[in-house]
Amino acid sequence: MRDFVTINEVGPRDGLQSQGKTLDVNQRLQLIQALLDCGIRSIEAGSFVSPRAVPQMAGTGELFGQLPQRGEIAYSALVPNLRGYELAREAGVRSVAVVLSATETMNQRNVNMSLERTTEVCAELMQRARADGLEGRAYVAVAFECPFEGATPPAVVESLSRRLFEAGARKVIVADTIGAANPASVRRVLERLSDLDAVQLSCHFHDTRGMALANVLASLEHGVREFDSSIGGLGGCPFSPGATGNLATEDLALMLGAMGLDTGLDVFALCDAVQVAQVLTGTPLGGHSHRWLQRESAKRREVQHA
Ligand code: COA
Ligand code: ZN
Repeated sequence: MRDFVTINEVGPRDGLQSQGKTLDVNQRLQLIQALLDCGIRSIEAGSFVSPRAVPQMAGTGELFGQLPQRGEIAYSALVPNLRGYELAREAGVRSVAVVLSATETMNQRNVNMSLERTTEVCAELMQRARADGLEGRAYVAVAFECPFEGATPPAVVESLSRRLFEAGARKVIVADTIGAANPASVRRVLERLSDLDAVQLSCHFHDTRGMALANVLASLEHGVREFDSSIGGLGGCPFSPGATGNLATEDLALMLGAMGLDTGLDVFALCDAVQVAQVLTGTPLGGHSHRWLQRESAKRREVQHA
């Protein structure tokens, strides 16, 4: 059997939260349907955050009420505090993700709390999730570099990750929020977490400096088997100056497939989903492989119609 790598699509959350154009719930559902059509089975569908802080995510409760439900599809939602957690539970969310940034300033900017307070809140939410039978996921954000404080010490990422596991997190997502990691810095962080099982870790890279795939390779070599990405590289972070989009899902799926790893995704269908995301957001999208995928898709269509 081929080694399976889970691709967790974060376009509907990380991607849409930084778009100038706010999509309504129906448009967000259309994007999610296009992603499901590519074989994606793990999706961060939205966040329960203050609509004043992130208006693009207003209506996430309504969205969850309308998501196509099939046993094999895992949806998660980001929650920054207890209020978000409660709203998520009311909406029937089964998997919640908290965000703990590794620096003081980033927590202040993102959630208006100190590093210490955010750590307590995230730990409490992970405890509750475990007690309530939900999957608890925890981002350690700005794990390599913070736009305000510079390089993040790997020891800090390690200690925050261990704190979150102790509290009950099932998975820690090591997040390069501003796309500043490189394969050497990825190794330095993952080496510190090498005693963990592969299922306990995921990596989240932005492609700001074009190194996201190289960082994926370094993570794979450390046994990581889950990655976040967003369709067409949609995204950024409204609270991190300079952050551009996530690693594009089609680039990730193409590389993993070419390496003989199984993702369950159809890269040519992903090319169509990029188009859907582009029309919905009004933003030109597409990863490094986009032109090649478009050409190959067109050739395949010609063969099918011949
Ligand atoms: N969902 C919806 N509304 C929320 C909320 C949540 N999770 N948490 C707080 N609110 C509301 C409060 O009810 C209050 O509303 P009111 O002014 O109408 O009374 C308002 O937001 C302010 O609440 P307060 O507790 O004072 O929060 P704050 O202003 O200090 O903001 C956060 C803190 C965490 C709510 C806000 O910074 C936030 O939503 N951040 C999310 C950032 C994000 O999504 N970043 C990207 C992902 S990494
Ligand atoms: Zn991100």
